[in-house]
Amino acid sequence: MKGIILAGGSGTRLYPVTLGTHKQLLPVYDKPMIYYPMSTLMMAGIRDILIISTPDALPALRRLLGDGDDLGLALSYAEQPVPRGDGDSLIIGAKHAGDEPVALVLGDNIFDGPGLPELMSQAAKDHTGCLLFGYQVPDPERFGVAEVDADGRLLSLEEKPARPKSDLAATGLYLFDADGVEFAKDLKPSWRGELEIVDVCAAYLKQDRARVVTLREPYRWFDAGTYDSLLDASRYVRLAERRSGRRVACLEEIALRMGFIDAERCYALGERLAKSDYGAHLMKVAVDAGARLHPVG
Ligand code: DAU
Repeated sequence: MKGIILAGGSGTRLYPVTLGTHKQLLPVYDKPMIYYPMSTLMMAGIRDILIISTPDALPALRRLLGDGDDLGLALSYAEQPVPRGDGDSLIIGAKHAGDEPVALVLGDNIFDGPGLPELMSQAAKDHTGCLLFGYQVPDPERFGVAEVDADGRLLSLEEKPARPKSDLAATGLYLFDADGVEFAKDLKPSWRGELEIVDVCAAYLKQDRARVVTLREPYRWFDAGTYDSLLDASRYVRLAERRSGRRVACLEEIALRMGFIDAERCYALGERLAKSDYGAHLMKVAVDAGARLHPVG
């Protein structure tokens, strides 16, 4: 399965914070926002990932993540010159997807929870049609809203409805089989003038090929696109990391645990960041995993 991260847009809801920088580079506690959607794909075992962003932001994203080789990944980049909508990701990413299934994650979406790697990779393995991940929220009108039957079949999906039919938000994580790219080619701008990914899901829904996995407690999901949700996400990550000693969305550690890199590589990556707690954590994780090198001091 191929991966796509849609990490463009203008971040207008975060103005003036995003006037001089790019949303997906903002910190969510101790790491850049884009680490989180990246970690979600990596935990599903996805290594071939296309990052789509604005011409302005791409150089910085490239500087941050490079070609992915350090993490045992193959990262590529594509421009979205104008924010035409999240459905545009499957048009821009058509060549990258080829005729393989694709996992799309929006660049401001943060997922966490025990067993998420298993859930994701299981879903990725069993996947045909379109699979969405739902999450119960108190303010569904801010999101795509899904109506689902007891077996997880999608019954309806509406983008930011004034009168939501349920409290189940469609999170920004989608798995599509090869038809997703084909459906995207037929997209027309919605009432808000955007090519909507929910309309790709609606095309599957028409054929009764759309399912929803509902993420319940203890899973957590944040769309970090507003002042409050960005702060909530940072607070959550800080607390989760303090309480358990684990790190959320630590890409190098995930690469190690997924077998993409070995302990020596993980240690070396930590050493480059050794003055930060993040780097020290990596070196410790690597030593625990059998790296032959040992932390200094
Ligand atoms: O976060 C979940 C929600 O994300 C879903 O419930 C909605 O169905 C889905 O449409 C989307 O809604 P938002 O209004 O929150 O999307 P937003 O415009 O914030 O864009 C999400 C991410 O995608 C953000 O990181 C910027 C990026 N983006 C967005 C657009 C429209 C692009 O890179 N290019 C674009 O053209």
